Amino acid sequence: MHKDLQEILVTEEQIRAKVKEIAARINEDYRDKELVLMITLKGSMIFATDLMRYLDGDILIDCMQVSSYGASSVSSGNIQIKKDCSIDVYGKNVLIIEDIIDSGHTLQVLRSMLKKRGANVEIAAFLSKPARREVEVPVKYLGAEIPDEFVVGYGLDYAEHYRNLPYIGILKREVYEK
Ligand code: IMP
Ligand code: MG
Repeated sequence: MHKDLQEILVTEEQIRAKVKEIAARINEDYRDKELVLMITLKGSMIFATDLMRYLDGDILIDCMQVSSYGASSVSSGNIQIKKDCSIDVYGKNVLIIEDIIDSGHTLQVLRSMLKKRGANVEIAAFLSKPARREVEVPVKYLGAEIPDEFVVGYGLDYAEHYRNLPYIGILKREVYEK
């Protein structure tokens, strides 16, 4: 385990099992249908690339980058598009791939933006912190619910660090409170 972590929450083996489980459900639900995976940069890159390896349908890939103003570890609800997607999503099935849903603001904004453009939108989030929710967003595919702790690894960062860790762990408080 990385020295800055307090505890591992989701192991590599557990991640792999969850990803396969979600992929099987997506394969079932979108059999014979075209699906756009809308990857939210940068946190969801690893989850998305793992997931797509197990998808066997007609899959298109695009990405968007959004960011909230203000503190790095607290989502403000003030969402800004930093990079837009290039596929015209009008009339398409779009699955937003998200690393984690915290307050729900990011996904709520992204979802309504894509719906306004005429897409049929669903959400796959690897992690959820239900205790932190401020707005309700329907998540069709979820990897795991976790407690209200700051986690890193498997794409998730703290100030851009730790994304490469192959597991998900709780960051020691002393790392971000110093
Ligand atoms: P929301 O808008 O509050 O739901 O925030 C979601 C975004 O905040 C995620 O896409 C992450 O980028 C970030 N985030 C929330 N919780 C964590 C965490 O525990 N570790 C790393 N990033 C997080
Ligand atoms: Mg994110």
